[in-house]
Amino acid sequence: MGEKDRLIQVFLNLVKNAADALEGQNDGEIHLQTAYRPGVHLAMGGARDRMALPLEITVRDNGVGVPREIFPSMFEPFVTSKAKGTGLGLALVAKIIGDHGGTIECESEPRRTVFQVRLPMHRAPRAKSERSAP
Ligand SMILES: Nc1ncnc2c1ncn2[C@@H]1O[C@H](COP(=O)(O)OP(=O)(O)OP(=O)(O)O)[C@@H](O)[C@H]1O
Ligand SMILES: [Mg+2]
Repeated sequence: MGEKDRLIQVFLNLVKNAADALEGQNDGEIHLQTAYRPGVHLAMGGARDRMALPLEITVRDNGVGVPREIFPSMFEPFVTSKAKGTGLGLALVAKIIGDHGGTIECESEPRRTVFQVRLPMHRAPRAKSERSAP
């Protein structure tokens, strides 16, 4: 049920940012990791709003880290530390993940920046034959 092209944009933006952060470094690494974590739930408001977010995709780099002054507003549009950056990359990422009912978090220190995306999983309706009798 995910929008493939928009999800590709998400991960291209995250990997591009990681690559930018590694510029001039000769031991730069970008790790992509995926996991299925059925125990992860998000609760907002009451228990009725609980959402399962089992799909986890992590993009990690060992670059310079997000500049301190940028960190609190990095997902807002036009926030950039780059001479030719638009500052729209992460705003778009956050919008697309939000539209998919997911979450994105960032943790950053020099030589360890992690962006973690969590997404819900669509469960196909069970076939009639699988349903138990009422
Ligand atoms: N992996 C990262 N490591 C260090 N800083 C990062 C990382 N990802 C994002 N940032 C910081 O967040 C800012 C905003 O990122 P965003 O992708 O929104 O815009 P941009 O990369 O500056 O511009 P554009 O996406 O148009 O190239 C960046 O300018 C940078 O300072
Ligand atoms: Mg960017």
